Amino acid sequence: MLEYPDKLVLRINELYYTLGGEDYDCSHEEILILEPPRWKRVAGALVANSAHQKKTILDVGSGTGFVATVLGPYLTDKDQFICLDISQKFLDQCKLNLENKKFKCQLVYKQYNGMLLPFEDKSIDILTLNSVLHHIPNTELFLGEVDRVLKRGGYLVIGHEANRRFYKNKAVWTLYRILYVFLIRHPL
Ligand SMILES: C[S@@+](CC[C@H](N)C(=O)[O-])C[C@H]1O[C@@H](n2cnc3c(N)ncnc32)[C@H](O)[C@@H]1O
Repeated sequence: MLEYPDKLVLRINELYYTLGGEDYDCSHEEILILEPPRWKRVAGALVANSAHQKKTILDVGSGTGFVATVLGPYLTDKDQFICLDISQKFLDQCKLNLENKKFKCQLVYKQYNGMLLPFEDKSIDILTLNSVLHHIPNTELFLGEVDRVLKRGGYLVIGHEANRRFYKNKAVWTLYRILYVFLIRHPL
């Protein structure tokens, strides 16, 4: 398998999401429709159950704000939700999408270099990644960063990761496309 330098992968990701991505929400209906139930369960288990505690939640690769949109209603004015992304354009879109939701928590938007998390050691209670880990070139270094910034007993929640076997198996892929057209594009 070809290896690409980390910096090149990061730059391509940044350009891809900065130059394109206008129709991101329309082209990723599978996230918007299929993922919320799971994230609501996460919210119920981790966020709502500790409603009395002040929490800092960091969503890495926040995109247009999917995770914040699902978790936001469960957060209180004591909480801080940080949207972090490599692409400033997506952060701008994220801000536009979230500002009229009137969530009680404090919302922060931050761009970074895609690898070293710009936060202090043990400063984050919950770190979320939805459809992001497969974009990160050096997962070992990145997960080391996750480990560094999470408080002791903090949580890492990962969702919607690409699976190479899924794409290689033509029968599964074809079935997925059929279900996608009938159940997502045209829900029954
Ligand atoms: C497939 S989108 C997922 C967006 C969002 N989490 C969602 O569930 O809709 C991937 C996001 O990861 C961001 N991204 C790509 N490489 C990144 C990196 N190294 N660090 C953080 N974010 C990155 C992209 O800019 C994009 O917003």
